[in-house]
Amino acid sequence: MNPSTHTEQTVYLNGLFMPMNDSKISTQDRGFLFGDGVYEVIPVYNGQLFRFEEHLQRLTNSLQAVSISNPLSDNEWLVLLNTLIEKHPWQDQYIYLQVTRGIQMQRDHLPDNNLTPTVYAYTNPLKPVAENIINNGIRVITLEDIRWLKCDIKAITLLPNVMMKLAAKAQNADDAILVSREGLITEGTASNAFMVKDGTIFTPPISHQLLPGITRQVIERIANAHNIPLIEQNISEAMLNEADEIWLSSSTKEALPVTTLNGHAVGTGKPGPIWKKINAYYQEYKQEFITSKS
Ligand code: PDD
Repeated sequence: MNPSTHTEQTVYLNGLFMPMNDSKISTQDRGFLFGDGVYEVIPVYNGQLFRFEEHLQRLTNSLQAVSISNPLSDNEWLVLLNTLIEKHPWQDQYIYLQVTRGIQMQRDHLPDNNLTPTVYAYTNPLKPVAENIINNGIRVITLEDIRWLKCDIKAITLLPNVMMKLAAKAQNADDAILVSREGLITEGTASNAFMVKDGTIFTPPISHQLLPGITRQVIERIANAHNIPLIEQNISEAMLNEADEIWLSSSTKEALPVTTLNGHAVGTGKPGPIWKKINAYYQEYKQEFITSKS
């Protein structure tokens, strides 16, 4: 299957697997009208869901936080996602799943209380990060974090993230690192943020202002396991400007080196030694995961 011919992909919608082209949702779905829903993105290596329990737990937390009842049991999610994976030929994939509050015929901010959630999931080929980025890193700018105060919920409502991504592009940058009204770094537009100073890794502590990233958690564990100092600490923009290294992390990009910040080189302007170590350990960790599952 050619990964770019999306019409050949099979998707899951409300209990059925079907060609992507045949999948249709109602115009009255609250996800469409209000952005009233939550989502997850889960990487799949060699056909195996990576950190499935953690992603499922975060989905459960997001659903609870917005008062949508989880439409499936943990095992039903597992079977659904594994079936989806098996229907596609790619070894490495990433699953996108979303649950909206469902269809409500009369538009009203207040949801009816008997709605049936809409469940959608599909998968994509997961490509390794481009060699050029591994060797040279990405350019980011800092931007005011214009989002709401519940960024720990993985909500589908991503308009501010889209706007900030566009603002970064307009300034010839690949992404943005977001700064709260208090002047503290929160995260990237779709990733968590890390910096390194004098051999120590820093990342902002978990709060309502950022998503508790699963990749962030894996990086923390790897750092601890290999005695690389990592501190969860508030990071001011001034501190970020003095960083030796900056990284972003997400399920689809793993740990991504940032080598230009607001037009200035970060450290030497090349991906740094601590990132290289963490990235090598991350690849090793993935390999062990694949081996343990086969
Ligand atoms: N985004 N912060 C935000 C705002 C994110 O959207 C993401 C991931 C992360 C990293 O979380 P994790 O390591 O669990 O992927 C942090 C996904 C990949 C997306 O929206 O496509």
